[in-house]
Amino acid sequence: MKMIKNTLFTKTPIEIGPESGYDNYIMAIESSCDETACAIVKNGREVISNIVASQIKTHAQYGGVIPEIAAREHLESINVVIDEAFKQADMKPEQITAFAGTVGPGLVGCLLVGLNATKSLALVHDKPFIGVNHLNAHLCGNYIDTDLKPPFIALLVSGGHTQIIEVKSYSEQNILGETIDDAVGEAYDKVARLIGLPYPGGPLLDKLAREGNPNAYKLPEAKVDGYNFSFSGLKTAVLRLVKSFDGQELPTNDICASFQECVSSTLVKKIKKALEETGYKQVVIAGGVAANSEIRRKIFDLEKDGYRVCAPPMKYCTDNAAMVASCAYFNTNTFDDVDVEVFSRV
Ligand code: KG4
Ligand code: ZN
Repeated sequence: MKMIKNTLFTKTPIEIGPESGYDNYIMAIESSCDETACAIVKNGREVISNIVASQIKTHAQYGGVIPEIAAREHLESINVVIDEAFKQADMKPEQITAFAGTVGPGLVGCLLVGLNATKSLALVHDKPFIGVNHLNAHLCGNYIDTDLKPPFIALLVSGGHTQIIEVKSYSEQNILGETIDDAVGEAYDKVARLIGLPYPGGPLLDKLAREGNPNAYKLPEAKVDGYNFSFSGLKTAVLRLVKSFDGQELPTNDICASFQECVSSTLVKKIKKALEETGYKQVVIAGGVAANSEIRRKIFDLEKDGYRVCAPPMKYCTDNAAMVASCAYFNTNTFDDVDVEVFSRV
């Protein structure tokens, strides 16, 4: 399907996407949580520049993201990352085909900063504006530097979402299942906090798990119908385990490894079921938790069964703007009205 976008003032129709027949350079901005990011991507797959300003250091002292502080930091960084993205690409705004930005889901105050910057750039330079869904963008991280084409099964695992998605074409998706309570990243962050690890807990828990015994503790795997998940019971089981040590030194590495084993095997079981039932031969993982070593290892093991497995490199797993640009190029489910408002949840 051809994607026709209008420039904002002159309303000149511009074709975007794989069928446009010319090179598209899309500049994108991402600011949904605690990363201010700007990137320029050629034809949805080739990253020309990619700038990310992380706020992790700021939020670490509070043990989590404080939305008001995050929004203020986005304001301070936004112009810097845009300038850097142009500089790194050695490009000028006139050379950009369209400007794209994340509309939601995310923290409203944070999204507003990035989205208003995107709209302003599009207005000032009279180029098309393309609003992007953050979750779709995570999936599109898999198109960067690859020749991956739908159909495939996707596991989307982030701080706020856990979904198994059937991606039928660039724009047609069907959510097969999702978590009924905590997202995987949320479970990682909560368990990390329980055992006394600093924010952001997920990556550190992953690191310690590699030093522990995954079979040290048998943690309960929630029995949820179909492709849905539940992780809140597992979190409670870890809490009970921690309490059983009654203040004595915790076998932290073994607890991390046992938790990681339970989460990763649950996820992979359902992925296998989705592959078998759809008959698709390709599977991808996306979202911040796709950076997890054990989840990656278990999913890449599916290659032995003849599946093609894709996972973005770490820098395109966690929040970045290159994936937003790729989404604006490939996906027709975008928000092209410049009056579109940010949204916090799907
Ligand atoms: O996609 P993302 O950057 O932001 C959201 O849109 O949520 O994901 C952030 C989540 C956090 O919960 C973080 O702890 C988790 O991804 N995460 C990890 C790892 N790296 C990041 N969780 C487990 N293992 C990791 N290596
Ligand atoms: Zn994200």
